[in-house]
Amino acid sequence: MSTNSRFNKLILDLSSGRDILHSLAFERLMNDLWSAKPLNPSRSVFLCNDLACIDVLIESIGRLTPALQNKIAWLLGALVDAESGTLELDKRRKIRAGIPEYLSIVENILRSDHSVGDAKEIHGFIFLLGHFPEDASLIGGRLSDYLGQDAYQATNLGLVFSLLEDHPVRSQFLLAYQGAMACNQVCDARTSVFKNVLACPECLGKLDYSADIICCQKCQSSYEWCSDTPNLIPKDCVDPEEYPESLVKIYGAETRPRFVRVMGQDWLSLITHDREQGYLNQFLRPVDGPILDLACGIGNSTQLLIDIFGRARVIAVDYSTAMIQHCERNIKGSTLARGSSSALPIANESLGAVNCSDALQALPDPQQAILEVARCMRPGASFTGFTFLEASWPYSYFQHRLHFAKRHLFTLDGIRGFLESSKLEIVDLMVIEQAIFFTAKKPLK
Ligand SMILES: C[S@@+](CC[C@H](N)C(=O)[O-])C[C@H]1O[C@@H](n2cnc3c(N)ncnc32)[C@H](O)[C@@H]1O
Repeated sequence: MSTNSRFNKLILDLSSGRDILHSLAFERLMNDLWSAKPLNPSRSVFLCNDLACIDVLIESIGRLTPALQNKIAWLLGALVDAESGTLELDKRRKIRAGIPEYLSIVENILRSDHSVGDAKEIHGFIFLLGHFPEDASLIGGRLSDYLGQDAYQATNLGLVFSLLEDHPVRSQFLLAYQGAMACNQVCDARTSVFKNVLACPECLGKLDYSADIICCQKCQSSYEWCSDTPNLIPKDCVDPEEYPESLVKIYGAETRPRFVRVMGQDWLSLITHDREQGYLNQFLRPVDGPILDLACGIGNSTQLLIDIFGRARVIAVDYSTAMIQHCERNIKGSTLARGSSSALPIANESLGAVNCSDALQALPDPQQAILEVARCMRPGASFTGFTFLEASWPYSYFQHRLHFAKRHLFTLDGIRGFLESSKLEIVDLMVIEQAIFFTAKKPLK
């Protein structure tokens, strides 16, 4: 395949499909251009051997969505930046010739509804434009018109240009800062989880996301997408799906607080948001790797994990389609998969930690779920969660009465037995009324 058609194909992949597919295609494009082994030890270089890729990038930029335009702008900026001094003049000239178009695109992005508040997808463009001080007055003039003088100054571009002559080091520092900010905006942290952690629930093979149907590279099983979420349920799974849309809608505001109160016999309101978060803060000790929120529901527990460990670190899995859809809406940009606790779509020993809040009682086979959790944990990883103990009669009647579906109620020894028979070491068991918070750890080898 000629370079030109290879790059055209990469751009085609970029412009079809869903968000995460865009991100995976962008990563392929970037890896095609960027050398991981720098020829010059202090800088990475681009493998931009001919003009074809630059032509294709510049020709296609006008046709893409704002988020993708910003990614391509960052890539062009990085191309000029990483090869500065060595980039052949005709390549730089080509990229520079696009400045009027970049400025029009920025204007459109700023006008469009896609970009409100701080989420404006223009950091890549600002980084790119900062490499052309000879066009400072054109760029400054147009950007001040769209953004207003103050907002233009806040982009640091004016400063980058004005410092270039007398304080080149400061100017370069600011440009690198802008490049890093744009890099953080355009590179989707979810891609490495999709590639390295999510796996075929049938055979744990690697999944191929390059087409609209996800395909296992080992056993050829195929899986569909549900919006931006892969639907990774094994074919013979018989888990019941218990949460219809009508219940999910009222889950956060009504069902969860009442459910926890009744099941935990928590009439003194001891199990608060702060208590849940405090427990995670104290006991969830991740080793390297992502943190799984198993049976995430609409994302209450997922949000607690994100607040402590950051969005990039957390993956959420649930069986209910309706729950997943609400979670996707509640926690934008998070990594979600539909999966079953009985056959997790997660590679062996890939997780830094697992949490399972208010859910063990709802899983069809809690012991099997804990065995699966233990399989996916890295040595040293911790597993936290809370569930409920069966109260004595007559209160237990209402714990059972509450169920609109089959639920498990546990004993302290039962929970201990599940963890120990999954070869996890118990770190903490804390009982509050009828709720039990637990922490276990996978031993180091
Ligand atoms: C009570 S909700 C808990 C949600 C959340 N962790 C929280 O703290 O609010 C229990 C969740 O377990 C999920 N669930 C039930 N069976 C499952 C299974 N086999 N695999 C994964 N999740 C399952 C349900 O869909 C539901 O979202």
